Amino acid sequence: MKKTSSSAQLFHSSSIEETNAIAARLLQQLEKTSIISLEGPLGAGKTHFVKAIAAAMGVHDEVTSPTFTLLQSYGSPENRLNHSDFYRLQSEAEAFDLGLQDYFSEGLTIIEWGNKFSKLLPQQTIHIVITPLKDETRKIEVFFPE
Ligand SMILES: Nc1ncnc2c1ncn2[C@@H]1O[C@H](COP(=O)(O)OP(=O)(O)O)[C@@H](O)[C@H]1O
Ligand SMILES: [Mg+2]
Repeated sequence: MKKTSSSAQLFHSSSIEETNAIAARLLQQLEKTSIISLEGPLGAGKTHFVKAIAAAMGVHDEVTSPTFTLLQSYGSPENRLNHSDFYRLQSEAEAFDLGLQDYFSEGLTIIEWGNKFSKLLPQQTIHIVITPLKDETRKIEVFFPE
């Protein structure tokens, strides 16, 4: 992963509730059109993190893993959350064809496995890496670009 970050924040979560609190705190630092790449192995809690951000935004739509619909949009035009997942995509062209670029200006965008096709991500993308630790807790690192 390309880390051009000038600042990073490190969190440690021992529970769903702590992850929710970390997401709510992060949301305070985001813009309406921030772009986040969520990284970490299967089961790390990436989709859960998106649910936590949605809840903190006051978006009540059910957030699901974007497996079939590869790009989902939740909320309202004033308070929009776009959610995608590159995990099942085979090529950069396939990812490009989702039309993500058109969504970037329309709300907060979170892409699970965004680093898989990092060329599609703008320079201002925030990278969040979730690492499950041996004791079932999670390390959550947030890398803000310069
Ligand atoms: N501290 C935690 N933070 C986030 N998820 C957790 C935590 N502890 C347990 N979990 C569970 O781990 C699972 C992660 O699944 P999911 O979010 O779908 O992962 P991913 O999208 O990374 O594959 C969820 O069932 C969630 O409830
Ligand atoms: Mg997921």
